[in-house]
Amino acid sequence: MELYLDTADLDEVRAATEWGVLRGITTNPSHVVKAGVRDMRTHIQEMCWIADVPISVEVVTLDADEMVAQGLDFASWSPHVVVKLPTVPAGLSAMSRVTKTEVTATCDGCAHFEGCPIRARFAAQDALTRIPEVNATLIFTVNQAILAFAAGASYVSPFVGRLDAMGEDGVTLVADIAEILRVQQQAGKIIAAAMRHPLHVSTAAKAGAHIATMAYSILVQLIEHPLTKQGLADFMADYERSQKQ
Ligand code: E4P
Repeated sequence: MELYLDTADLDEVRAATEWGVLRGITTNPSHVVKAGVRDMRTHIQEMCWIADVPISVEVVTLDADEMVAQGLDFASWSPHVVVKLPTVPAGLSAMSRVTKTEVTATCDGCAHFEGCPIRARFAAQDALTRIPEVNATLIFTVNQAILAFAAGASYVSPFVGRLDAMGEDGVTLVADIAEILRVQQQAGKIIAAAMRHPLHVSTAAKAGAHIATMAYSILVQLIEHPLTKQGLADFMADYERSQKQ
């Protein structure tokens, strides 16, 4: 399963990139506000430069035409942009239109444009002009996922933790969508979202999620174990002792 960060914080993106485990980023309007982002385009282009991974960028309108316009604009900012659309009727309409429209990632205004190796790599694969991928967000039922895939989404994002908070079972939703993809022999990826603790990540992986997107604080928890810490301290102490003999 791939690990994504759910954030708009550049320091968190830098830290996770350092680990070498980051395979993507999802943002949402709340993360953007929290990170104090003023210029979305510049910010997303900086994320692209730091992490060189797919970045889901969410529209901020309830109108289908505006969703399409925003989504196509986002997709021109970087070849890594995935358009994130809400799973509501207007969002479905936008999904089906965005996924029928070619967009060139012109990367206009990017501070790293000159000699950018990321852009050069996409250009070499003839992939700067492409049909944008869509991440269907705010998925809470199997039928919403079925509809999103039917409308052209490549990814569906069930919000596991938010379902659990209502007394429902978010991981079961992940498992149900995974089973449908398997039975129908259908392409499409599940992004288990709204992870609240490490157990969500491992159970979502077992349930068939292709990706889990999580806060940086949860990513950090994945590596923690007191016995790892203690074992390393013991090994280092023994080594230090041996050097003094
Ligand atoms: C997913 O893409 C969403 O941004 C996210 O997981 C929302 O989760 P939250 O409930 O932590 O806000």
